[in-house]
Amino acid sequence: MTRYEEIKTQLKSSPKVWLVTGVAGFIGSNLLETLLKLDQHVVGLDNFSTGFQHNLDEVQDSVTEAQWQRFQFVQGDICDLDTCKSVMKHATAGDVNYVLHQAALGSVPRSIDDPISTNKSNIDGFLNMLVAAKDAGVDSFTYAASSSTYGDHPALPKVEENIGNPLSPYAVTKYVNELYASVFARVYGFKTIGLRYFNVFGPRQNPDGAYAAVIPKWTAAMIKGEPVFINGDGETSRDFSFVANAVQLNLLAATADDAAKDEVYNMALGDRTTLNELFFGIKDALMHHGVQYNNGPDYREFRSGDVRHSQADTSKAKNKLMFAPSENVYEGLEQTINWYVQSCN
Ligand SMILES: NC(=O)c1ccc[n+]([C@@H]2O[C@H](COP(=O)([O-])OP(=O)(O)OC[C@H]3O[C@@H](n4cnc5c(N)ncnc54)[C@H](O)[C@@H]3O)[C@@H](O)[C@H]2O)c1
Repeated sequence: MTRYEEIKTQLKSSPKVWLVTGVAGFIGSNLLETLLKLDQHVVGLDNFSTGFQHNLDEVQDSVTEAQWQRFQFVQGDICDLDTCKSVMKHATAGDVNYVLHQAALGSVPRSIDDPISTNKSNIDGFLNMLVAAKDAGVDSFTYAASSSTYGDHPALPKVEENIGNPLSPYAVTKYVNELYASVFARVYGFKTIGLRYFNVFGPRQNPDGAYAAVIPKWTAAMIKGEPVFINGDGETSRDFSFVANAVQLNLLAATADDAAKDEVYNMALGDRTTLNELFFGIKDALMHHGVQYNNGPDYREFRSGDVRHSQADTSKAKNKLMFAPSENVYEGLEQTINWYVQSCN
């Protein structure tokens, strides 16, 4: 039995109280779905800035009525300290045990267009959440860090201790999160875990708008028969990882021993997929679900500031948190594409 299987069994027999911020977003709603299916009590916080009520509705449809009754949603902003303090308690199940802090404004281009809003949610909001969680005396605090923290460091694969200079306002905010987290351990003895997500994908990742990530954007374009643009020659690569793996690592981190805390961990598969491979992977998966896309990709100029390759070393998460990714990229794509085909029709 894997550590993840063990933890799920324990949680099911002895349910805990969780706080998921950013619960109406992509990763937050996937965390919510898994937790409710394990009969956990969940408080969810979101201000719907980039999240959606329909993500919550979809989770409701996937769980039983009794499981849904264990969820308590608060519409509010992490930039408000009182709101952060108020969500440290579940109305019927009591004090929050585990915090999974996902709320933030994602997207590097968004942070370049609007660094002030990104800074507010990602730094002021993060600090509020840290203070509220520390004061409430929660058992653990796990937060969404980012591979953008590696910045211009050239080494591959990326190892947690070797980071470069940040390349965007977004990357600054995620690095500041890590700095605050380690200072809170040193000054207050409040030890957290940061998960540096690489490129996470899966159901409910928003395909719309200027800041959509590559997999939802391309999938939606292919379903509509629209052109798919690749910046550069398509040999740029990323460590794409299915959201179930991110959910697993969050649960492992939340329930980890003290010795594994006050650390950051890469959350990725440890593989590299080029944009060309990704294009044909999506195209094939669509075909398996009855959607034929007849065009090739349209190559255009490289986007300035994009790093050429990104790949994680996942040994720290595997050794210290017993992380055992369950789906590879193509298995994840099959499940993801199935969801887009259903929801885009
Ligand atoms: N998806 C990825 O590949 C990836 C990669 C690296 C890091 N991350 C981080 O993971 C986390 C989740 O990302 P996601 O992909 O699910 O994005 P998402 O935009 O789908 O979810 C973020 C959620 O946070 C909410 N939110 C934002 N600001 C808020 C605020 N001030 N108060 C309350 N709620 C707020 C949004 O409404 C949204 O529901 C973020 O912290 C993001 O920076 C994601």
